[in-house]
Formats: sequence, structure tokens, C-alpha cells
Amino acid sequence: MRAQSATVAGVESPPATEAILLVGGKGTRLRPLTVHTPKPMIPAAGVPFLTHQLARAKAAGIEHVVLATSYLAEVFEPHFGDGSELGLHLEYVTETDPLGTGGALRNVVHRLHSAPGEPVLVFNGDILTGLDIRELVGTHRRTGADVSLHLTRVEDPRAFGLVPTDADGRVTAFLEKPQTPEEIVTDQINAGAYVFTRSVLDTIPAGRPVSVERETFPGLLAAGAHLQGMVDSTYWLDLGTPQAFVRGSADLVLGRAPSPAVPGRHGEHLALPGADIAPDAKLSGGSCVSAGAAIGGGARIDGSTVLAGAVVEPGAVVRNSLVGAGARVGARTVLDGAVVGDGAEVGADNELLHGVRVWCGARIPAGSVRFSSDQ
Ligand code: GTP
Repeated sequence: MRAQSATVAGVESPPATEAILLVGGKGTRLRPLTVHTPKPMIPAAGVPFLTHQLARAKAAGIEHVVLATSYLAEVFEPHFGDGSELGLHLEYVTETDPLGTGGALRNVVHRLHSAPGEPVLVFNGDILTGLDIRELVGTHRRTGADVSLHLTRVEDPRAFGLVPTDADGRVTAFLEKPQTPEEIVTDQINAGAYVFTRSVLDTIPAGRPVSVERETFPGLLAAGAHLQGMVDSTYWLDLGTPQAFVRGSADLVLGRAPSPAVPGRHGEHLALPGADIAPDAKLSGGSCVSAGAAIGGGARIDGSTVLAGAVVEPGAVVRNSLVGAGARVGARTVLDGAVVGDGAEVGADNELLHGVRVWCGARIPAGSVRFSSDQ
């Protein structure tokens, strides 16, 4: 069944039906979580993060999705197959050598069925957002743009490239990260979701790495193309760092971030079937415990993610942290803002705070670490 059309400025606007998802990045900022698992496959609120994006795309009328894979490409298809469980038709295209965000798009265009003038949705595979996808497509059609970009507003734009627009929302420049207060000419940044007119994708050079942000967009602008910005300031989070990933998962569980794919009711915590949680353990702040994980008596898990098969022993405190698959957190150990990689073991009576990362398979003996930035 075809999805319903969105109404844009009083005019019925059909949704886009095809999307490309960029899921080939190495996810270096998320290490060690991305050592064995590509970023889009790390569970957020109990399911691979990509599931949330696919479900939101489906809800917005997308029928056919091409996944542009590269790093650990082999894990996507065994999980999602042809996409029929999600009501989508999924295809996979793998780059032998990473082609960057723009090169990856060019590399998959031959799998699209859209006519040259039709809109194609493009998503970065690490963005959690409540973006009104239909509205972005509607804006694209209404303005006749070559590319339409989702822009979001941030409080502190210093860490981002800026995207100023004119009174009609047309992009006027792509600016590097501002170095001085005078260079902060807008608080609008590229939010990582775009609608391309299909023929524009064909103009990206083939067979070499291309950055869509650094090369394609500035090049199109310089050539006089119409790039439209749509500011949508609903929920938006780039899950590129461990702290952001844990926050995003918690927001999905709490219902602050919208997704039709959360496997359970919104609430203070989500325990997946097969999770073993002691009756007096306390789970809060959108914590999620995956299947086969065990939480011991009196343990407190707050705003955290505990992946499959991990064990948190009695009396441990895990706050704003991620415990990797098959990892173990010893009794009375305190984690706050920490990441424990897959299969790692943190012995009893340790304290790991403020961004500490324990590598996959590492062993930390009992009572050996008291890390605090205050000491
Ligand atoms: P970091 O290494 O931590 O910066 O993460 P990343 O590798 O994911 O890079 P970045 O966050 O800039 O990437 C934005 C999006 O593009 C993510 O969804 C990546 O998966 C994707 N991506 C980045 N580079 C490539 C590439 O060479 N090929 C493909 N197919 N996707 C890419």
C-alpha cells in the first residue's frame, strides 16, 4: 500500500519512496564499542540503532532503502535480510575501500528506481531525530530545490560547520567551524538528513572518495545549484560518541526521542525478554538491559545500557554508562560516564568515572582503579 501524502502549504505532496542510508563509517569516536560492531548495529533501546531509522523511514512512506556499507559490512544483511520484517525492500552495496559520504552515495545510485526528477532521502546512519521527514520532502518539492538539508539549531555552534540561509530558507554558504565570535553568523548546523533530486546524485564523481559535506555541497552551491535548508528543531542527537549514544538510548526508552521500533513500553527502564534482574536492583533514567544480561541484588543502573550477556554484580552502581556484550562489572564497582567494551571484566570495588573506556576483553583486577577527574 502506498503511504499517504503529506500536505505542504495546502498542496498534496507525495512522499519520497526511496532512501539511501550511509552506514559504512568506522565510528572511531565510539571505540571500543565499534571494534566488533559497526555503529548503526549497536543496540539502542534494545535493538540495533539502525532499526529505529528504518522504522521512521517506513512510517514516512519510504519503501526501498539502499544501505551503503563498508566497515564490518558483513553484519547488516544477516540481521535485516531483505527488509520484509520491517515492511521495506532493503538492498546492500559494499565499498571495497571506503568512499566517504559522497562517494558512497554515488556508488549506490544504480540501485535506485526513482526517475531523474524524483526526490531521494539520504540519512547519516548515526543520527537520532524526530525530523518530520515528509515535511522535508514536501519542502524539497515545493521549492524545486536540487538538495534540501535538515538543519538544526544548537546552543553552542563552535563545534560545528555552520549553514546560514536567506529569508526564503535557501542555503547561502557552508562555513567551517567558527574560530572567533564574529564568525558565528548562525546557530544552524547540518543535521545529517537530506533530500536529493535523484539526478544530482549522478553528478557526484564516481570511483574515488568524496565528502558530501566538504566537497559536494560547497561545489553545488558554487555552481549555482539550489540548496534549501529546513530548520526542524525537534529532537536531534548525533550518536557519534559513547556519552551521546548512551543518552540517545535512554531518550528512546523514556519516550523523549521518537521511534516506532522501541521493543516495549516507554518508561524508566526497558528490560528485554531473557534479562535476569534481581528484585531489589533499581533501574532508572531510561536504562536498557538486553537479553541474557544479569543485574545483581542491590545494583543501581541509571541512564545506562547493559548489552546482551553482560553481568552487573550485586551492589554495583552504573550511571550514564555502557556495559558491552558479555562484559562483567564487579560487586560494588561504580561506573559513571564510562564504557566497558565487549567481554571486558572490571573487578569488584573499582571506580571508573568521567569518560573512562575499558577496551574489549581487558581485565581490571578488584580494587585497583579509583579514577576521578577531581583527584
Ligand atoms: P567517526 O569515525 O567517529 O567520525 O564516525 P563515522 O566513521 O561514522 O564518521 P561520520 O560520523 O562522519 O559519518 C557520518 C555517516 O556517514 C555515518 O553514518 C557513517 O556510517 C557514514 N560514513 C562515513 N564514511 C563513510 C564511507 O566511507 N562509506 C560509507 N558507506 N559510509 C560512510
